[in-house]
This record gives sequence, structure tokens and C-alpha cells, in this order.
Amino acid sequence: MSSPDAQNNKVPEVVGRNNPFAMVTVFVCTSCGLIEGAEDQSNSDGRRLHNDLKALAATQPHISIQSVDCLAVCDKSVTIAFTSPQKWTYVIGGVDAEGDSEGILSVAHSILKSESGVPAMIDRPPFFRKGVISRLPPVPFR
Ligand code: FES
Repeated sequence: MSSPDAQNNKVPEVVGRNNPFAMVTVFVCTSCGLIEGAEDQSNSDGRRLHNDLKALAATQPHISIQSVDCLAVCDKSVTIAFTSPQKWTYVIGGVDAEGDSEGILSVAHSILKSESGVPAMIDRPPFFRKGVISRLPPVPFR
């Protein structure tokens, strides 16, 4: 599932409580899928997903793709997190490095359009519906 905005590579309407610079950061664990002892540590599942997302989001200034060494959910590779100022944060596990990139951007677009950061149910691809590990409230919490 991919939103029309994501399919057309358009910047969606951005909603952030009085914050014209609202954006979504997608953290991707680049340690997920590392093969212990492998010579090439640059080709983990998480690294491939990170690189793919970086390329897809290159023209989308409201979406930032960041690598992180570990999100402490190592048994649910690949793990990612969506975070946005003054909005809910979601940690998602079990993301497919080969097939979920467009869905990830679609969720990021839905978060941008949401006042609370809660993606609309219709905008939640299977990886999101099956993979939510936790969500954290925005601070300050109201
Ligand atoms: S190695 Fe990816 S969450 Fe720990």
C-alpha cells in the first residue's frame, strides 16, 4: 500500500502544531541483519533498507532518513522508528528490507498529515499493522 503522495513523490500537506518545519524522521537500524563475522559489514538488511529509503526520500524535504546502530529490538529485524516533533513515536519491527520501502514512505506521509502523528488506519501497510512494537506519546504530553 502506498499513498498517492508517496507514489507521485509529492510533498504532502504537513500538519504540526504551529510548527511550519514539521518533519518525520525515520530511524533505521543498520545493525539489523548483520552477519556475525562477515567481512563486509556494510551490507546488512538494515543498511540496504536505509540506503533504499535515502534514495526514495531524496527529494522529500519533510522526510529524514537516519541510520542508528541499534533500537534494542534485535530479535525483530529490521527495526525502524517514526518520530516527529510533538507527535506520537512508533517503533516497528520485522520490516522487509526488500519490499517495504514505499510503504514506509507512505506511513511517513500519513504522519505528516496527522495532527497527532497517528497514521490513519487506511494508510497502514501490513508491515505496520503487524510490526508495531510500541508507541510513545509526544512530550509534553497533553
Ligand atoms: S540490531 Fe537492530 S535493533 Fe538491535
